[in-house]
Amino acid sequence: MITCATVKKQVIRKHYDHTSFFYRLLWGQHIHHGLWEGEESPRRAQLNLTRTVANAANIPQGARVLDVGCGLGGSSIYLAKQRECQVTGITLSPVQRRWAGLSSRWHRVSHATEFRCQDAESVEFAPDTFDVVWSIECTEHLFDKATFFRNAARWLRPGGKLAICAWLANEVPTESQSRQVYDVCEGFFCPSLGSRADYIGWIESAGLQMRFDFDWSDRVARTWDICLRRATATGMPWLAHCFDSDMVMFVQRFRTMIDAYRTGAMKYGCFIAECAAA
Ligand SMILES: C[S@@+](CC[C@H](N)C(=O)[O-])C[C@H]1O[C@@H](n2cnc3c(N)ncnc32)[C@H](O)[C@@H]1O
Repeated sequence: MITCATVKKQVIRKHYDHTSFFYRLLWGQHIHHGLWEGEESPRRAQLNLTRTVANAANIPQGARVLDVGCGLGGSSIYLAKQRECQVTGITLSPVQRRWAGLSSRWHRVSHATEFRCQDAESVEFAPDTFDVVWSIECTEHLFDKATFFRNAARWLRPGGKLAICAWLANEVPTESQSRQVYDVCEGFFCPSLGSRADYIGWIESAGLQMRFDFDWSDRVARTWDICLRRATATGMPWLAHCFDSDMVMFVQRFRTMIDAYRTGAMKYGCFIAECAAA
C-alpha cells in the first residue's frame, strides 16, 4: 500500500462539493472510469462498467443495497431502475447528496433511493441490514480500509454480496512507480492506494469469501486521455485557479494518472465477495 499523509478528510469533502458540477458537465452522472469493449462512447463505457459489476455480483431484483460513496447517484439510480433495488447512498459531500436526490426524482426512482451525507468511516448500520454493499471508486478515499471492510461485512446479511471497484497500486512497484502513485494519491486526495493483494487481504480478513477479482487496467485507462482532452478544451486548467491550489494540483495530475497507467504503476480492480450463508 502506498500512503500519502498530507490528505485530509475535509479536503476530500471540499473537492467533491466544488467539482461535482464539473464532473457532471464533463463526464456525466457516473463519476467513475469507463470500461471499454471497443470504440464505444465514454458514456456507454461508463454504463458498461456499472452493468458489468452488477452482473458479476449477480445482484438480485429488489435487493437492499448500500452504495458507499454514491457520488451524483449514478449507480444507485441504475440499480433502482434496472434491478428494482432499494438503495441507500452515502457521500461525504452535501452538494452530491442534494444532486443525487434531485436526479433520482428526475429518473422517477426517488421512492427506491435514499441519499445521506455521511462518512463511510463513522456511519453505523445494524448488522444484516443490506443484501449488497456496493462501492465504485470510493475506498481510495478511506483512511482505514481494513476497518471499513470489517464494518461492511457486518452490515451484510448472510449470503449478501460485496462489489468494489478501486484504483490500485502495482503489487511490487519500482521506486519511480511508487512516486507516481504517491503523486496520484496527493492530487486525487487518496490517503492511500492499496494493491490487489491488500484488497483481497482486507476482504478475506473481514470474513468474506472472494468470488471474483478482475484486473481492468487496460480496459479503463483511456478514461484519463478523454478527461484531459475535455478538461483542456473547456479551460479547466485556467478555471482551477479561481478555486484554490488543491484544484490546480488536481487538474495538473491528470497527466500523472495517464503516465501511471502507462508505466503500470496504477492498476484498476474489481472485487466481488460474499458473506457466508447462515
Ligand atoms: C470518484 S467518486 C465516485 C462516485 C460514485 N461511486 C460513482 O461511481 O459515480 C468518490 C465518491 O466517494 C465519496 N467519498 C469519499 N470519501 C468518503 C467517505 N469517507 N464516506 C462517504 N463517501 C465518501 C465522495 O463523496 C464521492 O462521492
